[in-house]
Amino acid sequence: MKNILIIGATGQIGSELTMKLRGIYTGGNVVAGYIPGAEPKGILLESGPSHIVDITNPTMIAEAVDKYNIDTIYNLAALLSAVAEARPQLAWKIGVGGLYNTLEVAREKKCAVFTPSSIGSFGPTTPHDKTPQDTIQRPKTIYGVTKVTGELLSDYYASRFSVDTRSVRFPGLISYVTPPGGGTTDYAVDIYYAAVKGETFKCPLKQGTFMDMMYMPDALRAAIEIMEADPSRLIHRNSFNIASMSFDPEIIYAKIKEYVPDFKMIYELDPLRQAIADSWPDSLDDECARNEWDWKPEFDLDNMTKDMLANLKLKLNA
Ligand code: SER
Repeated sequence: MKNILIIGATGQIGSELTMKLRGIYTGGNVVAGYIPGAEPKGILLESGPSHIVDITNPTMIAEAVDKYNIDTIYNLAALLSAVAEARPQLAWKIGVGGLYNTLEVAREKKCAVFTPSSIGSFGPTTPHDKTPQDTIQRPKTIYGVTKVTGELLSDYYASRFSVDTRSVRFPGLISYVTPPGGGTTDYAVDIYYAAVKGETFKCPLKQGTFMDMMYMPDALRAAIEIMEADPSRLIHRNSFNIASMSFDPEIIYAKIKEYVPDFKMIYELDPLRQAIADSWPDSLDDECARNEWDWKPEFDLDNMTKDMLANLKLKLNA
């Protein structure tokens, strides 16, 4: 039995991960932690317990852990890269202060902790092609700074206090369920909405801007499998490169056009997002995740595109 607290359960990843965890750990509590203004609704509210947990308030985290006898925390509270650039102090408070609060509660109450890192933890001096697991991490964004700090702090709590911390570096995540907000990779979600609505897509990044992307079902599986992995096989902990596909705007546009031939894309560049994307890797090498916990993606660009278009048509009644 596992009792799990998801902090940020109504966000881009949390809303789907909470439901998936509830389907797997049926004998325990899978608690949706939320902040006022982002309350769980519908099936997320009805399918299990929820609790107010503001990650900047350690007492609230401890209360939820005590009340539900939590043994595993998924810490999904974060501001995505472009929003974080607009509010760097808040990004630090949530990303690093919030993680510190979570790790301290985990140390005292003996919980395992998953905290996502990102392709954003890399920077312009990182090798951009097949970025290795262990390499230069000197990001230029506050988002990346919080992610590298989070990786180091989580590894410190593992070696110094034996807190079972684990993490993956997520690529841009693509889903038809909960839209992301304020990320640099979000264009690869928005483009599907435009295609299904019959709108011309204004692409904020230029041709040739390659980044790693992943379909949400693979990302959810990664978050669960890393926490289930045999610890004796783990050489790394915080954080593992994972990968499934890498493309630029022209490649995803051409793929969508195979299924929506009338679809049109034009370029309307966003300099902030372009600068961020240029500093991130083009593709990650995920060999360590494959070797240490048998990571393997199931979706490529083609089967993701078919699934996204079919589900968005249903969702948008198009
Ligand atoms: N999807 C995130 C962003 O674009 C990267 O981890 O900010």
